Amino acid sequence: MNHPPVYPNPRRQWLAAAAAIGVAPWLLSACATPATGTSSTVRRRLGPLEVFPIGMGVQWHPGRHPQAVNDLYASSTDRQAAMALIRRAVDLGVTLFDTAEVYGPFMSEEILGEALQGRRNGVVVSTKFGFDIDPQTGARRGGTNSRPEHIRRVVEAQLRRLRTDRIDLLYQHRVDPQVPIEDVAGAIKELVAQGKVLHWGLSEPGLQTIRRAHAVHPLAAIQNEYSMLWRGPEAQVLPLCEELGIGFVPWSPLGMGFLAGTVNAGSRFGERDFRASVPRFAPDALPSNMPLVDLVRTWAQRKNATPAQVALAWLAARKPWIVPIPGTTNVAHLEENVGAAAIVFRAAELAELDAALSAIPIRGARLSPAVLAATGVEAPPKR
Ligand SMILES: NC(=O)c1ccc[n+]([C@@H]2O[C@H](COP(=O)([O-])OP(=O)(O)OC[C@H]3O[C@@H](n4cnc5c(N)ncnc54)[C@H](OP(=O)(O)O)[C@@H]3O)[C@@H](O)[C@H]2O)c1
Repeated sequence: MNHPPVYPNPRRQWLAAAAAIGVAPWLLSACATPATGTSSTVRRRLGPLEVFPIGMGVQWHPGRHPQAVNDLYASSTDRQAAMALIRRAVDLGVTLFDTAEVYGPFMSEEILGEALQGRRNGVVVSTKFGFDIDPQTGARRGGTNSRPEHIRRVVEAQLRRLRTDRIDLLYQHRVDPQVPIEDVAGAIKELVAQGKVLHWGLSEPGLQTIRRAHAVHPLAAIQNEYSMLWRGPEAQVLPLCEELGIGFVPWSPLGMGFLAGTVNAGSRFGERDFRASVPRFAPDALPSNMPLVDLVRTWAQRKNATPAQVALAWLAARKPWIVPIPGTTNVAHLEENVGAAAIVFRAAELAELDAALSAIPIRGARLSPAVLAATGVEAPPKR
């Protein structure tokens, strides 16, 4: 196990948690839980990076009018509120912000860059490249593009949009089946030497691609879907991260809102809601999957917390190098999610909860066949 130790910074983390307590009374009792388990209010390691245990996802797209901001699901806000949300997250102690070139495209990086003006130094900006996007129009041309010259161009544009001189953590969003990962790693290594990128990671890669990438330039993090609703990474990806000392960032840690209790057996999703294409949210699957929500609700009562907090704290409790990045457009949800950092699961509680989770079969695939096909891909060999 090559993971470096986690160095706690209890005062700073306590202040962050205390800020959340001020607006979230349920936290008082959560904080009062005797710290016999692994408290997640200390900083966590993603490879060499050190971050607050709960990050924030910034995955937004243009809405109906120029100031409108939509998430991938049913929520909307506007640019000013979105920036205020990011600044509130910084004030609460959140340090890891996750975005991508393709979110918008460009809009999410622009909002994050503007929101972080004057606050850039205390945070970890993570973004992603890898889809084939027209740099002028933002139109998606279909498929992936991780050719080294394309990566270099994308990073220059990202630095401009993010209003910064360095990207703390740059991920390849999806493995490019046309480009050997050694070529991608080589391009990243050059960008690191130039100081434009500090660390890198991969999202939804194949296992051998992780090993090959890490051998050329060490990876700080793997970002895959992981939650109580999708536990696939537990079989092979998490053990590999542990072996190589790579951090892990679960995306959709709230199961696209499902684990927060915002979906019921009769929920139907509109055209622009990504969940409309996801088999596990289909009308024939949802009723079978509701026992998971019931379980999370039961544990929320038991821990005097909310369902979203239980879902996030469960992830954080699994390994000290796991940092979920819940997405939200809502300041009360943000404050609630940050509060999950103060919730402790004792080992016996975790074992009991795991056993109950394992007994609930989930019906329906986690993504549509087309989106799923781009996950777990191995990069072609280097000739
Ligand atoms: N690498 C990848 O391929 C990939 C793919 C997908 C996502 N991501 C990253 O992961 C981040 C998070 O994933 P995600 O947004 O897909 O899913 P998520 O975090 O699991 O769920 C987001 C949904 O939960 C709701 N929500 C959040 N907090 C809540 C709370 N406390 N109570 C009730 N509802 C709550 C949000 O609505 P409200 O706005 O109403 O709060 C939103 O509908 C993204 O922002 C993005 O950065 C990466």
